[in-house]
Amino acid sequence: MKDGFGRQLTYLRVSVTDRCNLRCVYCMPERGVPLVSHEDLLTFEEIERVVRVGVALGVRAVRLTGGEPLMRRGIVSLVKRLASIEGLDDLSMTTNGVLLAEYAAQLKAAGLRRVNVSLDSLDPGTFAAITRGGDLGEVLGGIRAALSAGLAPVKVNCVPLKGLNDREIPALVSMAGTLPIHLRFIELMPVGCDGAWFRDRFVPAAEVQSVVEEVVRRSGARLSPSAPRPGGGPAACFEIDGYRGTIGFIPAVTGHFCGWCTRMRLTSTGGLRPCLASDTEVDVKGALRGGCDNSRLAALLMEAARLKPWRRGMEYGASDERRMSRIGG
Ligand code: 5AD
Ligand code: SF4
Repeated sequence: MKDGFGRQLTYLRVSVTDRCNLRCVYCMPERGVPLVSHEDLLTFEEIERVVRVGVALGVRAVRLTGGEPLMRRGIVSLVKRLASIEGLDDLSMTTNGVLLAEYAAQLKAAGLRRVNVSLDSLDPGTFAAITRGGDLGEVLGGIRAALSAGLAPVKVNCVPLKGLNDREIPALVSMAGTLPIHLRFIELMPVGCDGAWFRDRFVPAAEVQSVVEEVVRRSGARLSPSAPRPGGGPAACFEIDGYRGTIGFIPAVTGHFCGWCTRMRLTSTGGLRPCLASDTEVDVKGALRGGCDNSRLAALLMEAARLKPWRRGMEYGASDERRMSRIGG
């Protein structure tokens, strides 16, 4: 499945719920967002059908996201269904880690390959402030459980926020020294948060990278670029001698990687979104529930691919319609 510019779309992100057990400051308002009703969510059968048709069209990797995917009841059975699809080479999940200690072993047994865990602070108070009430210990326990379950590699995502957690970059870097994690610093995106708040908190990836370089240099080591992986995401990754983990930087805003984008998103309510930065959406739920056949589904996937913009434009701004908790991060 190619878009209108010849990019092969091989990566489908599937949001399985808009619910979340945290309220991260950059993602959700304090009171939460109006939740969609259960009937509006795609069922596991419907998700599996879309993924199967996607795989027949060349999708090779699926990532489950939310909201918080572990909040969706029966999620392990969805993993099992998707893991059995012939031709799907990579099945992963992005989670906030709160329930991961409970689920890691079951997810691995069901066929999940790997996880990305969000972790914005190693200070319990700051962690609770950023997530509005989250318990740091649960997430650290989740990361350890994922490592011991063999959900490899475990990627740990941190969004640096000016005045909130930016002083903790050295502490996070030392975590990658002692644990075999892939730590990635992701630029704050103006998606789902207030524009003025975004401008106050934004820290460019280049700035984070120079702080990390300084910390590593002072310890007598240096960053060496990891070999780029084919089909690898937009992170620039580095290894450090003596470190068990690696460190990467994702310039989600300042970077220009739209040209290599291989992604498409399926929202929890059954919309195909060709681009995170645009509200364009192709409805598949209506077709699924209207009894469409697989060739019609394939046509809708191709239609969404055709609508993928060449790159994000001025429309890249906060919008209520465009919350990460619905689209999937
Ligand atoms: N900017 C950057 N990252 C975000 N995430 C959610 N909202 C934003 C945003 N506005 C990230 C979370 C998590 C993943 C699901 O998406 O930190 O790692
Ligand atoms: Fe939940 Fe993830 Fe949003 Fe935080 S960023 S509120 S963990 S969906």
